[in-house]
Amino acid sequence: MAIDTLTEFVADLDRAGELVRVTQPVSLDREMCEIADRVMKQPGGGQALLFERPILINGQPSACPVGINLFGSMRRMSMSLGVQSLDEIGRRITELMEMKVPEGLIGKLALLPRLLEVGKFPPRSRRGDAPSQEIVWQGDRIDLDQLPLMKCWPQDGGPYITFPMVITRDPKRGIRNVGMYRIMQTGKTTLAMHWQRHKVGAAHWREMAERGEKMPVCIALGADPPSMYSASAPLPPTVDEFLFAGFLRQKPVSLTKAVTCDLDVPAEADFVIEGEIDPAEPLVTEGPFGDHTGFYSLADLYPQVHVKAITMRKSPIFPATIVGRPPMEDFYLGHATERIFLPLLKMTIPEIVDYHMPAEGIFHNLVFVSIKKEYPGQAYKVMNALWGQGLMSLAKMLVVVDAWVNVRDPQEAWWVALNNIDPQRDARFTMGPMDVLDHSSRAFTYGSKIGFDATRKLPEEGFTRDWPDVIEMDDETKQKVDAMWSRLGIDARVTKAAR
Ligand SMILES: Cc1cc2nc3c(=O)[nH]c(=O)nc-3n(C[C@H](O)[C@H](O)[C@H](O)COP(=O)(O)O)c2cc1C
Repeated sequence: MAIDTLTEFVADLDRAGELVRVTQPVSLDREMCEIADRVMKQPGGGQALLFERPILINGQPSACPVGINLFGSMRRMSMSLGVQSLDEIGRRITELMEMKVPEGLIGKLALLPRLLEVGKFPPRSRRGDAPSQEIVWQGDRIDLDQLPLMKCWPQDGGPYITFPMVITRDPKRGIRNVGMYRIMQTGKTTLAMHWQRHKVGAAHWREMAERGEKMPVCIALGADPPSMYSASAPLPPTVDEFLFAGFLRQKPVSLTKAVTCDLDVPAEADFVIEGEIDPAEPLVTEGPFGDHTGFYSLADLYPQVHVKAITMRKSPIFPATIVGRPPMEDFYLGHATERIFLPLLKMTIPEIVDYHMPAEGIFHNLVFVSIKKEYPGQAYKVMNALWGQGLMSLAKMLVVVDAWVNVRDPQEAWWVALNNIDPQRDARFTMGPMDVLDHSSRAFTYGSKIGFDATRKLPEEGFTRDWPDVIEMDDETKQKVDAMWSRLGIDARVTKAAR
């Protein structure tokens, strides 16, 4: 059964023993961040937290609780998308994409249910009272100071919204985008929108600026968990994230018209901040912000949002996350993306077997890729293809290994890669766009990248020596030792799997 609201998700987490309700008053000014950081650093990501008595930055009690780390483990990430394992979603996507038209009428008819399933996903607009608009603040009632925004780290430029769904529309094609971009509070009714230049929201804003038109923008907080996750997914600009969320939860997302503009917003959201950006207005300072690189990102100029209305449920939960030195909750959100997008990557780069972005590589710094290598130069072909794909174009280091290597285990991937490379022969530099958060590149968002071909080399690639086998015990000996293991008097904790 699809989960429709954040409240239902929190109740599910509670029942599953995944949630700690913090009943002590905790300040949103750094204290909450310090607590969440300690929890997120526990093996496997720690538990989800519901702060029931947050204290606002002005010292007043918050009217609603704050949920943090709700998606921050493999189990909770899977629960949020209604699956046992994230790979299930990849398999559903593969099945859809492998829909070859079968021979004969019976075969063709068998396709129908699958095709009809796709048609069930588009978001539905609902008329009448939406829960997300049970309470409406407009005019003088608008006061962002009353929302539980968190100031996370000591040098942060202000309080932040950290887990939003930022809804905009492409003015040319009318396609909606939903992106997760942090937003800094700059006043009672103003915010600074940190959409980086490579992101779809920023592209919509540039388009509106060219037209000289004011841009409506809605910031939804809390809803069905697949919608919340989808805002962070790097979907192509032509794909509506709410359609994708509908596919993930196998039930359409319910939308309603915003109060002050003609954007649609989730009917089940906990909060919606409706605003407007005037592209003619000067940009404002956003940051610094303790970022997911583990370093502060420096202050820079971003567009200002003027809040026109704040709508909310009667009993909302304010969703938040913190970023900082990895691993943090965002590792699990990114990991879901990694698993879900594997079949899509394979569609254009079929030799890819698997890929992985380890937590310490914070997504854009390091990507391991395993490939089924069949001809010389194929590792470079894969690197070039990856550097030409959406946000993968921002990857700083790609390490390509052979199909048998388990890239989801970074220790194994490094072990093989470091053995297999002759650094001068197997490393290649190239130039390209860099992530906005990369503080080392020679210029803002422009710099060098490196690819390592750590696959087994072929003679055409200049390798004429013998290539050694990986050490493995033969099956017969393994079975003999398995049979005698219990009699050896060796610690029972040394299991078969660990040997
Ligand atoms: C917790 C979290 C915070 C993020 N903050 C930002 C941000 O401040 N700015 C940004 O451009 N991307 C940020 N991202 C990454 C975007 O959400 C991601 O690139 C997404 O694909 C953007 O959507 P878009 O492709 O529709 O623009 C964040 C992701 C997560 C998980």
